[in-house]
Amino acid sequence: MKILMVCLGNICRSPLAEGILKSKVDTTKITVESAGTGSSHIGQQPDKRSRAIAKKHQISIDDQVARKFTVADFDAFDLIYAMDGANYRNIIRLARNEADKQKVKLILNELFEGENLDIPDPYYGGEMGFQTVYKMLNEACFVIANNLHTDDER
Ligand code: 4NP
Repeated sequence: MKILMVCLGNICRSPLAEGILKSKVDTTKITVESAGTGSSHIGQQPDKRSRAIAKKHQISIDDQVARKFTVADFDAFDLIYAMDGANYRNIIRLARNEADKQKVKLILNELFEGENLDIPDPYYGGEMGFQTVYKMLNEACFVIANNLHTDDER
């Protein structure tokens, strides 16, 4: 099973989502990566506020490097989680067929099914925004990890 987390810059939300989900699953069986729909931060380390909130929870995301989402990711991953509606639409726009589209989900729909809620972009806000983002992602990744384990047992 291969899971891709996607936001805009791949420096704030999706690196945290990657780190949090990795901390909850067996990474020898489940691959988790992240990417951005935008190009502005390619090659950069995650934002220091994301690194700080991760570290506070004993998770290191320091080694991650931002990259851009590409069409090849539809082939490489089984599930693609968008952090918000704008990114969801940007990914869907690149889909080549219905199978590609079926892989794309809004991450908060794992917690609030069908409500299409966004993980708010914390980039221009303060530390509080990152705490909120962490809490939302932690809860969503808890559900994702549990569902993966249930699938294992089937
Ligand atoms: P992310 O946050 O999409 O969660 O990585 C952002 C990072 C950078 C920008 C916007 C959002 N930016 O406009 O540069």
